[in-house]
Amino acid sequence: MDFHAVVCAFFLPLLLELSHAEQVKFVDCGSVAGNVIQVDINPCPTQPCQLHKGQSYAVNVTFTSATDSQTSKAVVHGVIAGVPVPFPIPNDDGCKSGIECPIQKQITYSYVNELPVKAEYPSIKLVVEWELGDDSGKDLFCIKFPVQIVS
Ligand SMILES: *[C@@H]1O[C@H](CO)[C@@H](O)[C@H](O)[C@H]1NC(C)=O
Repeated sequence: MDFHAVVCAFFLPLLLELSHAEQVKFVDCGSVAGNVIQVDINPCPTQPCQLHKGQSYAVNVTFTSATDSQTSKAVVHGVIAGVPVPFPIPNDDGCKSGIECPIQKQITYSYVNELPVKAEYPSIKLVVEWELGDDSGKDLFCIKFPVQIVS
């Protein structure tokens, strides 16, 4: 095999794999003011996503709004054994997370944010519940997906 063939056969798929955000399976938990189309997490090569302590993950939620809204505010919980625990994110302003506000009805947006996994988190499986509320507190989206925190 020549060099080109080696690159194509081995390194190109690897590069694509590394740069490719994975579409994750999610459950809609009550997106009354919108409709979720797709949820991507990068990196997440296997599902449920394995979140390594000390790393940060890019979350991309693509949804179509069913409402007009000036603002949007995210709330994230980790649901551990059925109990929701606040999961802090650096910026809860959806209008600074890939969404151009004001949000307009019938327009599709991609909400993009980081999920930082702190080194002190326990190694457990949990469900991440991510909500984005509109002006009146109604959910533009509410999604749930399982994750596993690993060292
Ligand atoms: C988010 O996902 C949508 C739908 O796949 C895609 O069009 C968009 O480019 C993604 N945005 C980022 C920043 O990855």
